[in-house]
Amino acid sequence: MKLSVIYHSKTGNTQKAAEWIAEGMNEVSGVQAMCFSISEVDSDFVKESAGVVIGCPSYAATMTPDMRSWLFTDAGKLGMAGKLGGAFATEQYTHGGAELVIQSILTDELVFGMLCYSGGGSFGHPVIHIGPIGVNSNVEEHNGMEKYRDNFRIYGKRFAAKASELFG
Ligand SMILES: Cc1cc2nc3c(=O)[nH]c(=O)nc-3n(C[C@H](O)[C@H](O)[C@H](O)COP(=O)(O)O)c2cc1C
Repeated sequence: MKLSVIYHSKTGNTQKAAEWIAEGMNEVSGVQAMCFSISEVDSDFVKESAGVVIGCPSYAATMTPDMRSWLFTDAGKLGMAGKLGGAFATEQYTHGGAELVIQSILTDELVFGMLCYSGGGSFGHPVIHIGPIGVNSNVEEHNGMEKYRDNFRIYGKRFAAKASELFG
């Protein structure tokens, strides 16, 4: 079963998060997960994917203009309806709006007719309410993407397990 992680990233933090999500997905037997920047999406692979996770940085507590534009113009051509959907984001301030970004991406996914999945609080630690977030160390020296690596990986694993349960 194929799964896709699609991201916009200018300085590499969100790309890292995407790669960690795919790493977690690939831990689930029978799953082949790939990551794509919005500028280099393999349309055939995404169309064949049972699930798609989409992420970008927080820009002024909203999704980036590039992601907004990609969701409007390109994502709808990828046969998203009926796929499992998820979302993630990165930010440089602990309260920098990443959850709002996730929520707005999930809203687009619902509009496409996707079945949205959060990763689930019911699994316990890490408790993920709507999607995983990474805070980088640009401003907050005590923070850094590496601290969130396991959260992204575990989210990916949970997402893939759910996709296998539904579509495997
Ligand atoms: C134009 C612009 C606006 C930003 N606005 C926010 C913001 O509102 N809150 C925040 O925490 N970080 C903000 N950031 C920082 C990015 O969200 C953060 O550095 C992110 O991890 C960058 O992701 P990337 O390395 O994948 O490009 C902003 C960055 C830029 C360039």
